[in-house]
Amino acid sequence: MKALISAIIGSILCISACGVAAQAKPEDVIKFRKGAYQVIGWHNATLARMIKGEMPFDAAEFARNAEIIAVMSNVVPNAFVAGSDKGETRAKPEIWSDAANFKKAVDSFRAEATKLAQVSKTATTLDQVRSQYAATAKTCGACHDNFRNK
Ligand code: HEC
Repeated sequence: MKALISAIIGSILCISACGVAAQAKPEDVIKFRKGAYQVIGWHNATLARMIKGEMPFDAAEFARNAEIIAVMSNVVPNAFVAGSDKGETRAKPEIWSDAANFKKAVDSFRAEATKLAQVSKTATTLDQVRSQYAATAKTCGACHDNFRNK
């Protein structure tokens, strides 16, 4: 009985103090992270095809894909739980050791992706989305250069 009570107290303490980081296994965080980026990559590929003229520009479809990327840009910050730097991951240790600069990379991605979704909502031509698409894609490349292993 005493053991049971202390186990219960122990788990209550853990709920309040251990937080999400201690609960999620690093391999699960890595799977979630890669999955999130695959969603982003998939929808970005559609935008890229339209930008390059490999696919006809469809304003509604462009806006729909841009909206998904903007939503996902808010999911990504949850995917870098401490301890998820080890395993089958290309995430560089600098994500955690240089957290201030990583946060800047995350924030600029969120800002540009959100702006792209906004611009796309009212755009009727490819030229109206081209420069904001480039600004957004630049934030992908900048983060990959600094924080993703080859
Ligand atoms: C703030 C940093 C950051 C931004 C911004 C970012 N990425 Fe990434 N991306 C990463 C990191 C880190 C990984 C490696 C994840 C891992 O292996 O755990 C990654 C992985 C990926 C992957 C591979 C997923 C897999 O299955 O391994 C794709 C595809 C991808 N990113 C596409 C994009 C696209 C497209 C954008 C922009 C629209 C983007 N990323 C923006 C940091 C970023």
